[in-house]
Amino acid sequence: MKKLRSQEWFGKKGKDGFIYRAWMKNQGIPDEEFKGKPVIGICNTYSELTPCNAHFRELAESVKKGVLQAGGFPVEFPVMSLGETLIKPTAMLYRNLMSMDVEESIRANPIDGVVLLCGCDKTTPASVMGAASVGLPTMVVSGGPMLTGKYVGKDVATSDVWRYADEVTKGSFSQDDFRDVEAAMCRSRGHCAVMGTASTMACMVESLGLTLPGNAAIPAADSRRKVLAQLTGRRIVDLVKEDVSIDKILTREAFENAIVVNAGIGGSTNFVLHLLAIAGRCEVPLELDDFDRLGSQIPLLANLQPSGKYFMENFYYAGGLPAVMKQLENHLHMDSTIVNGKSLKENLSQAVSYNSDVIATIDNPFQESSGIVVVRGNLAEKGCIIKPSAATPALMQHKGKAVVFETIEDYHARVNDPSLVVDKDSVLVLKNVGPKGYPGMPEVGNMALPKKLLDEGVTDMVRISDGRMSGTAFGTVLLHTAPESAAGGNLALVRDGDLIEVDVSRKYIHLHVDESELDRRRSEWKAPDLGFDRGYVGQYIHHVQQADLGADLDFLTGKSGHVVTRDSH
Ligand code: FES
Repeated sequence: MKKLRSQEWFGKKGKDGFIYRAWMKNQGIPDEEFKGKPVIGICNTYSELTPCNAHFRELAESVKKGVLQAGGFPVEFPVMSLGETLIKPTAMLYRNLMSMDVEESIRANPIDGVVLLCGCDKTTPASVMGAASVGLPTMVVSGGPMLTGKYVGKDVATSDVWRYADEVTKGSFSQDDFRDVEAAMCRSRGHCAVMGTASTMACMVESLGLTLPGNAAIPAADSRRKVLAQLTGRRIVDLVKEDVSIDKILTREAFENAIVVNAGIGGSTNFVLHLLAIAGRCEVPLELDDFDRLGSQIPLLANLQPSGKYFMENFYYAGGLPAVMKQLENHLHMDSTIVNGKSLKENLSQAVSYNSDVIATIDNPFQESSGIVVVRGNLAEKGCIIKPSAATPALMQHKGKAVVFETIEDYHARVNDPSLVVDKDSVLVLKNVGPKGYPGMPEVGNMALPKKLLDEGVTDMVRISDGRMSGTAFGTVLLHTAPESAAGGNLALVRDGDLIEVDVSRKYIHLHVDESELDRRRSEWKAPDLGFDRGYVGQYIHHVQQADLGADLDFLTGKSGHVVTRDSH
């Protein structure tokens, strides 16, 4: 076995070694723990302010058991955590900050390998981004989804929030009933129970090869989640002994596999941003167009909300992600090796779907094509994206007049104004919700429809913005427009009544305004005063890259490695 990195601390003689070991001993640690055992960091995103990860102290105990069984020395440490539902103005603003915490915490400490415990949306990409920039042997344990919610005899989960909210707006559902749904929906530990962003991220890390097979779907409340955590604790020790660093897993082929799998499961649009950012940290070339090229022709195999009907619990019982990957084997790099040391071919040899209504076969999919389509044109010169499986087929080719909201506050103030000039063919345009413009790119792109149209029975409209949408949301929504309006993209120049044409099959979006008129509007345009000069947010605004590059900070792309040459004393 290669000399352990942790021995640069615990193996030292003299005053430095004394100090490194002595203060650890106040936790009751005997001498032999420091003698050549792989030190495994358990990077814990537990927080009571991240309710989806609130069970992680228990999960960490399971990882520790496994590490000890395999002859390692586990050390749990906290990092910043991001609770999607509570953090204002949006958890995405802090993804890159959290990734810095993870990166520097791993690098600065006597750790040989790391297990990342993550669950709620941003905690997964942030943890992986940070770990990738360090490059130690790394495994992920996801927290697992909640059990399916139950409300008056119906199955409910996060995607229903939008449906019930529309019902409340229409007056067909009372506030009291709406409140009852809260407890009925979130009735167990875990993250959102649909194929929203958290489940998508859990599938992403599994398809990248960073987890043991089956990680993504096991419900948080199922005891097999703890078994997986324990087995991960055992395996990470071997991974250190075998010197399998994260960059040996996160190859270009692994990223391609993740894109194909995301299409097959109808994963969240947020996947695009996060995978681009992780690839940037690994220095693996990956572009927006790769998502379209590799994923847009892949059939939809998982019948899960918000694209389909079922929940993550059903997904697990039907065979989980391995069953989907088995069906996609002709589209995957089956020789890719994952953290258990086996190829995908070996890992998936026994995988089957136990319920073809939840996980379909490739010959009889739920939709012929899924994935993310990248749309370009004068309104999105560096692209915007749409998730066809969550959109209305009849609106995928559409021309309509723009109804423009300059900010999200402007939208809230006017969307339900009876005098708003809007009809079912209008295109709702929302500006200044991009990475810089908000700042932090909130999940507001799936703007709720105007009340008067809901009353008419309209259920979907074309919507475009430079923001994101929740992975649990749905609709004909064009997102992540780059360049964003606050960076001077043409989205900033759209005015009420302009004709917008979208043709998803041709991957085309066009603002039907003469170039000379656009030039005139551009000369009048002034960048918004974002009002943040100091602190992290000030740095974020100056350094965040556009959505087509994953919205990482420019100075964080790439890696610094794990070598620290100077001691602290
Ligand atoms: Fe945490 Fe949905 S809010 S996963």
